[in-house]
Amino acid sequence: MHPLLDDDLARLPELLEETRARAVRLLAGLGHRPVAQVPAHHRPAPLPVDGSGLAGALETFTRRWEPGFSGGAGPRYLGFVTGGATPASLAGDWLTGTLDQNPTSGLDSNAPDLERETVAWLRELFGLSPEHEGAFVSGATMSNFTGLAIAREWLGEQLGVSVAERGAAALGPVHVLSGSPHSSIGKALSMLGLGRSAIREVDRLPGREAVDVGSLAQALESLDGTPAIVVANAGTVNTVDFDDLRALAALRERYPFWLHVDAAFGAFAALSPEHAHLTDGLDAADSVCVDLHKWLNVPYDSAIQFTRRRDLQARVFQNSAAYLGPLGDDPDFVHLTPENSRRLRALPAWFTLAAYGRDGHAEIVRRDIALAARLGERIAAMPAYRLLAPVRLNVVCFTLASSPERVGELTSAITESGEAFLTQTVYDGVPALRAAFSNWRTTEADVERVAKTLERSALQDPPGRS
Ligand SMILES: Cc1ncc(COP(=O)(O)O)c(C=O)c1O
Repeated sequence: MHPLLDDDLARLPELLEETRARAVRLLAGLGHRPVAQVPAHHRPAPLPVDGSGLAGALETFTRRWEPGFSGGAGPRYLGFVTGGATPASLAGDWLTGTLDQNPTSGLDSNAPDLERETVAWLRELFGLSPEHEGAFVSGATMSNFTGLAIAREWLGEQLGVSVAERGAAALGPVHVLSGSPHSSIGKALSMLGLGRSAIREVDRLPGREAVDVGSLAQALESLDGTPAIVVANAGTVNTVDFDDLRALAALRERYPFWLHVDAAFGAFAALSPEHAHLTDGLDAADSVCVDLHKWLNVPYDSAIQFTRRRDLQARVFQNSAAYLGPLGDDPDFVHLTPENSRRLRALPAWFTLAAYGRDGHAEIVRRDIALAARLGERIAAMPAYRLLAPVRLNVVCFTLASSPERVGELTSAITESGEAFLTQTVYDGVPALRAAFSNWRTTEADVERVAKTLERSALQDPPGRS
């Protein structure tokens, strides 16, 4: 064995203890370190030839890299839609690396059964019926990709061809209809060989991001019986709007289409009794995307993909090889998602669900929703700002009342303050800011700090004052 490896092995308990102590210090300081930093780009160091052992690597990381990292796991990081890591999910993540299982096949351990149990728990959490089978992927983009790959195979089935065998060209032009598709839908269609231009954006309800069901019916009618894919949205990124999923599902009695629902974070509305109605009809979908590194608060990377047509899924993703084991009636995960080997991604989700249960996670969701509403009220009362949409769930979308074009400067000022991190967007043609609440640590005191930062930042930005 290399002497450095030999030495690290001999000192492993002590070295891991030191790593643990640093992790604990980092977590204790999460609420105090700058929430985000304007990145100071590092030039890459040369490849270490001799290496410095774990202690040396830890020292170099702590000195060179860690200070420039964001407080992304912390309570006032409201950019994108970003969850943190609950204590149990973090412990589960540590054990994921420790045990280093590859749950791809069921030939050597019961790790895949742990994934199946976690899938069943999540299915129940989101109110889906057992007809929905699920698999873990790295994020909502891959979940959308997988769902749309199954949809593509379904289109082939309608025409009597297997796209998995013959390729996407066998389908001819494909129609993907959606009101406000997330950018990952275009990316998935590009990867699937269907092309971004397959998306046809359908009219939305006035002043909303939700699709106009009447317009969708007309668009389907115009296809004259050609099977299509409809991508419904359960929680849009800017205003967290929800399509009327029941009404969309009902259209399948009149038109042939695959219903995919991007519920990346909106699915968690099912945990709040006051908002659960927004997810009515989710179960009727043919495929559903839900991200877990967002509102479940497990570390990156983790998402789940549900579908009612596992047979088509296995047709697309099967990876038959004598050494990987047979496909069988209940295919191993290797035959169900884009990856072959991967980490035991379910373990952090399993830990957090085992530790806090449905009620614990419902509390996080309801608190975040209440905090978003509170920040919305605070912003509505500030003359410098204007809300661009009602706060429907966990995102506040707003702009500078008199100078929306200066939102970029405002965003930088907020980032530089170290107090909060919000991301920019454009909503209905207006440059805007989004504050997205999905972290388990966030409290009312954090909302107050964010509100104060917004007040101060607006004052430093004269054109933004009204
Ligand atoms: C509605 C929706 N779909 C898909 C995605 C893509 O998620 P990921 O970054 O995990 O791939 C996001 C990310 O914010 C999202 O909000």
